[in-house]
Amino acid sequence: MRPQKPTASAGQRVVVTRELSGAEAPLRDAGVHLRVLARGDDVPSRAALLREVRGATAILSLLTERIDAEVLDAAGPGLRIVANVAAGFDNIDVDAARERGIAVSNTPGVLDEATADLAFGLILALTRRVAEADRFVRSGHDWVWGPSSFVGLDLSAGAVLGIVGLGGIGMAVARRARAFGLRIVASGSRARSDEARALEVRPASVDEVFGQADVVSLHCPLTPETRGLVGARRIASMRAGSYLVNTARGPLVDEEAVADALDSGRLAGAAFDVHEHEPSVNERLLVSNRTVLLPHIGSAGAATRRAMAELAVANVSAVLGGGPPLTPVG
Ligand code: GLV
Repeated sequence: MRPQKPTASAGQRVVVTRELSGAEAPLRDAGVHLRVLARGDDVPSRAALLREVRGATAILSLLTERIDAEVLDAAGPGLRIVANVAAGFDNIDVDAARERGIAVSNTPGVLDEATADLAFGLILALTRRVAEADRFVRSGHDWVWGPSSFVGLDLSAGAVLGIVGLGGIGMAVARRARAFGLRIVASGSRARSDEARALEVRPASVDEVFGQADVVSLHCPLTPETRGLVGARRIASMRAGSYLVNTARGPLVDEEAVADALDSGRLAGAAFDVHEHEPSVNERLLVSNRTVLLPHIGSAGAATRRAMAELAVANVSAVLGGGPPLTPVG
């Protein structure tokens, strides 16, 4: 066997907060000392995280880990990158990293299609009452086909989809929406792009999107500005009997306000893959028949999860090799 060529990363300590199913192999092959803190679906404790990051040059983190100033300082001055295995990065204090000269990267792009598939599945599940009808059948009720049973919204009969945050995932949702005959109104960085124009997306402000849509789907990042974006006032501006879908981040939505609006009939339905106090799920939403609730599985396609892990590992390799991250944040 030929001896392995030493690389710039050899001997460095990389902490992987949760196992990445083999995607970390290139780092191991490069002679990096890998410390994986949790296997399977286990989550490392805060104490383990603070203890184990000591001396790390890189941290590969998942969205379940809060990487704040305390963690960055616990790692010490050798830390060069925090590579999040997620598109979102609200679990990382990016300003604290910047102040310390530590790069932060995420995994944009590779999960757009998987997340859009799930968002669109939720749009269909809500408007055609799929989960509600499934619960009905399972409950053992007698039933016979009925002209008014489980009648929902026809997406192709002039319904308007509002996309808040037309970036990569939002655009992938728009492509699906177009194929289903929806009209689309959207806010966000790409709402005036050629691709949006080709999909006949109507660019609009966030207020207009909420005011004009029959179904609003959230695809914006969680920032101090977007936290609580959908509260009682915003819901009051939505069309009566409209629907809300959230596959972005839970704290964008005030869930009590949504529960009130479902009770009053102001909202016809809400589908959440993400939750305000994740992993807790709002009790009132759990007992409502007008909700579809999932355990944050937007990117949970096998190939997508692999691509996310590989991109995060590539970001670490790039920085340990002396270059910039491939997909930096900020
Ligand atoms: C998942 O929620 C992600 O941000 O990748």
